[in-house]
Amino acid sequence: MNSMQIVGEPAAAPTKAQTAIELSATSVTFGRGPTATPALAETNLSIPDGEFLALVGPSGCGKSTILRLVSGLVRPTSGVVVVGGREVAARALRVGMAFQNPTMLPWLTIEQNIMLPLKIVEPFRSQFKKQRKLAFRDKAHALLAQVGLKGFANKFPWQLSGGMLQRANLCRALIHEPRMLLLDEPFGALDQFTKEELWTILQNLWLAHKPTVLLVTHDLREAAFLASRICVMSPRPGRVIDDSAVTFARPRTIKMTFEPEFVALNQRLRDLIVDIRGVESSDDPSDASLEGTS
Ligand SMILES: Nc1ncnc2c1ncn2[C@@H]1O[C@H](COP(=O)(O)OP(=O)(O)O)[C@@H](O)[C@H]1O
Ligand SMILES: [Mg+2]
Repeated sequence: MNSMQIVGEPAAAPTKAQTAIELSATSVTFGRGPTATPALAETNLSIPDGEFLALVGPSGCGKSTILRLVSGLVRPTSGVVVVGGREVAARALRVGMAFQNPTMLPWLTIEQNIMLPLKIVEPFRSQFKKQRKLAFRDKAHALLAQVGLKGFANKFPWQLSGGMLQRANLCRALIHEPRMLLLDEPFGALDQFTKEELWTILQNLWLAHKPTVLLVTHDLREAAFLASRICVMSPRPGRVIDDSAVTFARPRTIKMTFEPEFVALNQRLRDLIVDIRGVESSDDPSDASLEGTS
């Protein structure tokens, strides 16, 4: 499932090295009794403000569950989830929007679609009524220009290609300056070239705005291109079996993805996932043979 979720709080000036997301001894089991599904094993994960974290791992290992924990759509069975300094389960969650493909409202223009979060998420909502509309429109146009969609503001969604819609989708995800972007395989359905274009656009947007990003992806190249840190998860019940920083210089280029160090990182991640899939039947969670290679 491709979806893009935005936790809707506008960017406050972040203090350095603040923790954006913290999972402490967090586990998730769906259902009860004999049909209970342990989806996420006890997990500790700390994500600093402004980090771009990619979560990779085999299908069904709990990646989307982690995104849902962070957005408050799923409650932890044990442990605590803290987002922006507040415990998620302890408050009415301010999930700004949750989008799934197809994502645009067909009766609104691209500009109107992009400005939609501003009409919903406070404090923009009140400002929107107080004639800040023109300033917001400028912001929408600036974002459209950044993703190469200058001049498409007044088109309708059906007049755009799939790749263009995903770009507009990114604009909408960023229009209310969220401090956090939760991306669940957002480029899964696109062809390779469009994908690569969007990686570059997303990288630029991240460099410009520095939101905390949690990206779930099956695409190891995508993870290594975009992320500043990659967590590899084991099959169900998922846990993080490898956690490493990605230190390639930015801005990264598609060309860099064919260089030896980049290829080596992909190979290592791939080996980890292939190995861990192979030991899926083993239920010894202390098997540490896949950890710590670098
Ligand atoms: N609402 C739910 N009820 C029961 N089982 C679920 C529910 N959501 C997810 N699961 C199960 O939990 C596991 C992890 O799911 P998910 O986080 O969606 O995996 P991933 O995103 O890594 O593919 C899967 O085995 C899935 O079938
Ligand atoms: Mg998923």
